[in-house]
Amino acid sequence: MSAPRERKVFDPSAPLRDAEIVVGVGGGIAAYKACELVRLLTKAGAKVQVIMTRRARKFVGPLTFQALTGRAVFTDLFSLTQESEIGHIAVADRADLIVVAPATANVVARLAAGFTDDALTAVCLATRAPVLLAPSMNVNMWQHPITQANLRRLVEVAGTFVVGPGDGFLACRWTGPGRLAEPADIVEAACRVLAPQDLAGRRLVVTAGPTHEPLDPVRFLGNRSSGKMGYALAAAAARRGATVTLLAGPTALPDPVGLEVVHVEDARAMEAAIEAHAWSAHAVIMAAAIADFRPAAPSDRKLKRTEIGLQPSIILDSNPDLLGGLGAERARRGAGPLLVGFAAETHDVVGYAQAKLVAKQCDLMVANDVTSPDAGFAVDTNRVVLVERGATREVPLASKPEIAHRILDRVVELIAARG
Ligand code: CTP
Repeated sequence: MSAPRERKVFDPSAPLRDAEIVVGVGGGIAAYKACELVRLLTKAGAKVQVIMTRRARKFVGPLTFQALTGRAVFTDLFSLTQESEIGHIAVADRADLIVVAPATANVVARLAAGFTDDALTAVCLATRAPVLLAPSMNVNMWQHPITQANLRRLVEVAGTFVVGPGDGFLACRWTGPGRLAEPADIVEAACRVLAPQDLAGRRLVVTAGPTHEPLDPVRFLGNRSSGKMGYALAAAAARRGATVTLLAGPTALPDPVGLEVVHVEDARAMEAAIEAHAWSAHAVIMAAAIADFRPAAPSDRKLKRTEIGLQPSIILDSNPDLLGGLGAERARRGAGPLLVGFAAETHDVVGYAQAKLVAKQCDLMVANDVTSPDAGFAVDTNRVVLVERGATREVPLASKPEIAHRILDRVVELIAARG
């Protein structure tokens, strides 16, 4: 057995960039979705080599994949031309990751038995790279104890990764588990396999989005937070192996896959959710824009224009400072999670962030200038300063997912430093 090749280190914010990925396409109707998967992997910067089984070629032509990847598709282990041009051992050696999508019941069975009778199974057995299966098959085939045992064997004996299958309407007209995971979810699973798992074994709580403070059943006081930064942080932490609980105020964003999401409406519900989750976490990252005030006496029925009058005024009560409360309670207990706050400011950004770091007794403040058109609320990019006692670090303009990873780079170090 040759010595394991040293695994490349991938940047968790773009683990697919320049990665050599083999996509093995099995013979099922979901083979057409592998085209979108290959497109997304290529778009993310991966160099993709497609291998198709004989049955897969009944569903999709190799030309489609060749056009998407710019590489000839490997189909035949026994073709002298293909073997001399591509070579199954060379493909197996070069791979950073093998993704099999769709992994049909037949492919799963052959992989579990260690067969090498076609290009795909031969490459999967010959590689030292991680293998990620995206199963797709009829619900009865999926639930069959033999298929389940085959998968268990692959996971437990060979360390194979599995994503999906999803639950839904299947091409065979059955409804149930068996549907190929969405291509974007397979891509994220691939990112997780390649990204450094430097948050494995850590529990993170991330708050995100605005809070809506009710005036009556149809009106609320809110703010401009879209939740994008907090959602990006939660997804980024999950990619790096953390067990993540996302406490989300009302946003238009879909729930990220693979983590626990708790939806809350207002600051007091956020407070209860934080109380329930924060104390068992290694770190709490407070990216939510929690309202400082709430209507003092919300009505339980819709306020009519005539009742409100011509110059309405709203009496407000203060909401508790949740991060400040966590900081004070942690100081009282003498133990608790790492606390990370966000300071959205319009002027003297670092000065206010430093003052908040001290006032709220937290470990790291992520400061950003929300007046800048390419940073802060509702946009897809951000530019922040990481403020700690005695140190500031600038993180230049980048996408929110990338900023999230740069924040987490520091969180990883700070958690480790606390022991
Ligand atoms: N925060 C909180 N509870 C609140 C308000 C804010 O926990 N009621 C948290 C936010 O999640 C953020 C940090 O405190 O991590 C700073 O929020 P920010 O609105 O900038 O600070 P405030 O203390 O509300 O100060 P001000 O609005 O006066 O700038």
